Amino acid sequence: MTLTVDETPFGFDPLNPGFRADPYSVYRRQRETDPVHHSPMGIWTLTRHADCEAALRDQKLGHGDGINGSDHLSFLTLNPPDHTRLRGLVSRAFTPKVIRELRPRIEQRVTELLAPLRDGGEFDLISGFAYPLPVMVISELIGVPVEDQSRFSGWSEEMARGIDPDFLQTPDQLVRRDQAKLEFDNYFRELIAARRGRPADDLLTGLVAAEQDGDKLDEQELLDILALLLVAGHETTVNLIGNGALALLRNPSQLQLLREDPSLAPSATEELLRYDSPVQFVSRVALADTTVAGHPVAAGEIVSMILGAANRDPSAFPDPDRLDLTRQSGRLVSFGQGIHFCLGAPLARLEGQLALAGLATALPALELVDEQPAYRDHFILRGVSALHVRA
Ligand code: HEM
Repeated sequence: MTLTVDETPFGFDPLNPGFRADPYSVYRRQRETDPVHHSPMGIWTLTRHADCEAALRDQKLGHGDGINGSDHLSFLTLNPPDHTRLRGLVSRAFTPKVIRELRPRIEQRVTELLAPLRDGGEFDLISGFAYPLPVMVISELIGVPVEDQSRFSGWSEEMARGIDPDFLQTPDQLVRRDQAKLEFDNYFRELIAARRGRPADDLLTGLVAAEQDGDKLDEQELLDILALLLVAGHETTVNLIGNGALALLRNPSQLQLLREDPSLAPSATEELLRYDSPVQFVSRVALADTTVAGHPVAAGEIVSMILGAANRDPSAFPDPDRLDLTRQSGRLVSFGQGIHFCLGAPLARLEGQLALAGLATALPALELVDEQPAYRDHFILRGVSALHVRA
């Protein structure tokens, strides 16, 4: 499917294959010529950093019957007070202390996944490393048994594609998304029943306790939270590792910096999150008549914030198209802002740091085999479907 210029809801066509290979020059043009784009469909598209940041924090912009296909994703698409209640129930599982304690397990997983790749030869860095690592981490955190993790990652793929606006998806993709969510719900109903009888030391047990305390959480709410954690926590982190590795391999002097000094991993991860953001786009609905970036926006209109464009705005990041792992990274919008700020950001950062530093140091001769890897046909989430490399 491609869109004609008149149908383009954002001022550019996100389905155009050329766009996917290099969205950043398209964003730059739009930010310079039409930074607050208004389409005939009633969608406002923001590409400046300051505008995106302000809109993300604006409480008059929220969620309604919007354009996202993510209505089954719990508090991601809810407004206060439901958002506050449900987010509060999960946030205990994502405190800095809990995340710090996961570190040795993630390190171990990184080492185990990289070990067979060290023998040399060619492999796909996505299926061999970037994809399995986050699914193992999120499954362990939730409490999904190891033997079920491959089913879990299959649903994740369909459901992640499904968060794009419905009008950017084919009928077949929508059917597959809904089917994946049904299978996911059925699987988790059984696991929930098992935890009721036999509590364990995992996030699922904590949520089941909240569900048993009925006025806090009902079963469908619980299932939707689990789906949110899977989709938000898996594909995004795959893309951080995959896009990050690709950017490093295309900038060998930067990769060498990280290899020589792995303590750069935190600033390197921030820079890679900025340079090629795993989440390119978020949207809200105007809950009342309001003003956005100096323009009057009517209740019910949609406001899209192009995070990938904001992160390349020269007024926030000097020389934005240059990858600089030592950059003092400034105000990234890669994890959003305001009340929906990514709950998993500390976990994602830790996984990114350990994965990228692990790759740089364990595989010292790593190089690209395919210079122009193909991107997944997602719009909201940006990442390559395979990354062929040689160790
Ligand atoms: C590099 C990896 C990640 C990126 C780039 C990312 C990005 C984002 C962004 C941009 C949002 C805000 C969406 C909006 O405002 O509409 C968000 C929300 C969220 N993320 Fe992440 N995320 C990542 C990893 C994770 C992980 C690992 C988890 C959990 C395991 C997670 C859980 C969530 C949740 C639960 C929300 C919803 C927060 C709310 O609505 O209050 N994310 N994420």
